[in-house]
Amino acid sequence: LFLSLFDLDISDKHLTQVDGIEFRLDLFSEINLKKLQKAVTSSPIPILFTLRKGSEGGNFFGSEQERETLIRKLLALKPAFFDLEYNMDPYFIKEQIEDHPDVKFIISYHNFSSTPLDFEKIYQKMLLFKANRYKIATLTSSTNETLSLLLFSKKHPNLSIIPMGEKGSFGRILSLTLENKLHYTYLSSKKHSAPGQISLEDLLNIYRYPKLNTNTKLYGLIGDPVTQSVGHLYHNDVFTKKNHNALYVKMPVSQEELQDFFPLAKKIGFQGLSVTMPLKESVLKFIDNLDPLTQQIQAANTLSLKEDFIYGTNTDGCGALDALEQHIPIQGKTLVILGAGGASKAIAFEAKKRGAILYIVNRTLKKAQDLAKRLEGKALSDIPQVYDILINTSPISPCIDKILPSAFVMDITYVPEKTPFLKKALMSGAKVIYGKEMFTRQADLQSKFWGF
Ligand code: ATR
Repeated sequence: LFLSLFDLDISDKHLTQVDGIEFRLDLFSEINLKKLQKAVTSSPIPILFTLRKGSEGGNFFGSEQERETLIRKLLALKPAFFDLEYNMDPYFIKEQIEDHPDVKFIISYHNFSSTPLDFEKIYQKMLLFKANRYKIATLTSSTNETLSLLLFSKKHPNLSIIPMGEKGSFGRILSLTLENKLHYTYLSSKKHSAPGQISLEDLLNIYRYPKLNTNTKLYGLIGDPVTQSVGHLYHNDVFTKKNHNALYVKMPVSQEELQDFFPLAKKIGFQGLSVTMPLKESVLKFIDNLDPLTQQIQAANTLSLKEDFIYGTNTDGCGALDALEQHIPIQGKTLVILGAGGASKAIAFEAKKRGAILYIVNRTLKKAQDLAKRLEGKALSDIPQVYDILINTSPISPCIDKILPSAFVMDITYVPEKTPFLKKALMSGAKVIYGKEMFTRQADLQSKFWGF
């Protein structure tokens, strides 16, 4: 793991947290060879020099001849590693590799607009140079593309894949579980050097670096979007506290991508997945075994991948009702659920099991009717006059004027903690149950389903 820096300011603390320092010399305000020499000789960990040209996403805008001249001077300082782009003059690259046997060369390829279909050919071309490592850094357009790239790098020990962008970020974390790969990080207090890069603070505090290795068990969240979820904070924290060698990442996956996602996830070695909107229903056709209640709900939020078998369950209902029952017993109470999607169904079935009287209120009345019919409940187009509990499962925060002060009111949304809906409930004098209370309970049940 290299910490990318844009100046010579290295703290002793960081020297113990990473394996090497990358000086992004193209981003330095000045290149002082004497100071660089001192930094190279005094550093207890390897130094990597990179002088990236503008066309490869760097900040060096001089001529190629000027860059080659400067690279020769920099190589004379004998850094442990030097990065050269694969599309430089091949004679120059070969000469530098031959003339500097003490320097480990990284031959790199960058594409900030896409991952080319022929990246395997590009890798073959890179292999013409006898380098220590090869690096392909590309913008990935989907989670599936990121997973395919990682599988490719798994087959090629000297090749590191640096997926860039929103759909590649999780791949940078996953690749920490692969052997012999290069990784790059930045300090959150400073600017970051590439799109999708994960900060050193997050790698250490959330993702359990440097404890990740080839034995790390992989878990993740799929859905679209996934940015709002705090699942990665919760599950990685559980792994840390229980000392499990496991990792949880968030992957944006759309309905159309699901078909290709599962074979890739199995090949990469995922053992468990959380599922969020809009996939809770569309994952069903990929599940081999559903427990009876989830079968009835027809929506799953938790998957366990074992060999060729996928098990599915739904922890939303229990999570919500367990949270609720911390405040009020449900048996015999009138419960109004706003919304009739996957989360609503999970909560409604569990509430029925625990003896609640159900009212389903939904924008599309037909969906509320279908659900209510299955649970001997009532479908309504508006909130009834009298009720004990009101739960919002819709993604919007409904603006309701008259919330009963005697009611217990819950929102399954947990960001922000006080949704406008809950604020209204508080103003009405109702008792409030925050979405976070449901989230932690359903996540805890997921953890148990995965055997933690
Ligand atoms: P999930 O599966 O996570 O529960 P969902 O399937 O998108 O999410 O369901 C969300 C529920 O919120 C749906 O019942 C939806 O109403 P429709 O059945 O009419 O689609 C409801 N919902 C979504 N957006 C809404 C909006 N802007 N106003 C009112 N209800 C909305």
